[in-house]
Amino acid sequence: MASPNKSPKGTPDSTSLKTGFLTSALGLGILITIFSTLIGVGRYLDNIKDKWYVFDPVHLHQLSQAAIAANPANDTAGIIQYIVANLTQTYPSTEVRLNLDVNEWMFNNAGGAMGAMYIIHASITEYLIIFGTPLGTEGHSGLHLADDYFNILVGEQWAFAPGALEKERYPPGSVNLMARGVKKQYKMHEGCFALEYARGWIPTMAPFGAMDALTSTLDFPTFFRTARITAREMIGNILIGKI
Ligand SMILES: *[C@@H]1O[C@H](CO)[C@@H](O)[C@H](O)[C@H]1NC(C)=O
Ligand SMILES: *[C@@H]1O[C@H](CO)[C@@H](O)[C@H](O)[C@H]1NC(C)=O
Repeated sequence: MASPNKSPKGTPDSTSLKTGFLTSALGLGILITIFSTLIGVGRYLDNIKDKWYVFDPVHLHQLSQAAIAANPANDTAGIIQYIVANLTQTYPSTEVRLNLDVNEWMFNNAGGAMGAMYIIHASITEYLIIFGTPLGTEGHSGLHLADDYFNILVGEQWAFAPGALEKERYPPGSVNLMARGVKKQYKMHEGCFALEYARGWIPTMAPFGAMDALTSTLDFPTFFRTARITAREMIGNILIGKI
């Protein structure tokens, strides 16, 4: 079948120029409307995100201290078991999804620091992980849209921000609160493990957590495993209504 003849294209006359201008103006108007709506929705969500929080920093701090007290001799495995058992009893599985597989560890490289993590909970507005290394590590904390509570369980974490000439020192049982937007150099001196609780916009932290793997370690199996487990936990939470 022959294709229909197309009329030859002439030079644009003033009418089509005018139409083009009107179309662009309309397009711009629509874009501005979409952007302002998105900003408005973003502001609104940021104001109400607190209502999705399930975990309580004070409880997690007390729980960390109780776990340390119940497991002397720096028994990291015992401390973790204690924490997970308490969380399981404290939070019904209909309210929040917890990953009870305490052997599901993976490497985590971020901000130049390296350790291993076990994801206890991950949702859109909160995560709870055990992070640490028996060797020690240091790096940049990252700059996050979330408050980050580092409950030190074993070993010590040190930190400093430009301007400070002495280090901050966080022994077991203490909390290093990295408030939203705060950035520091930190060091897990020698061996250190922490219960890290973050609340805020968790997906925005993903690029920081992923860049070292994509640009430095090229440890793609770990990258994909981390992405898969995080997605599994986040979706599992969404399915029970935990945002
Ligand atoms: C969990 O830990 C908190 C803080 O230590 C404690 O108050 C609470 O009684 C514990 N709950 C259970 C079920 O052990
Ligand atoms: C536990 O580790 C700390 C260092 O964080 C050390 O000072 C302490 O002696 C250790 N305790 C035991 C019982 O091994």
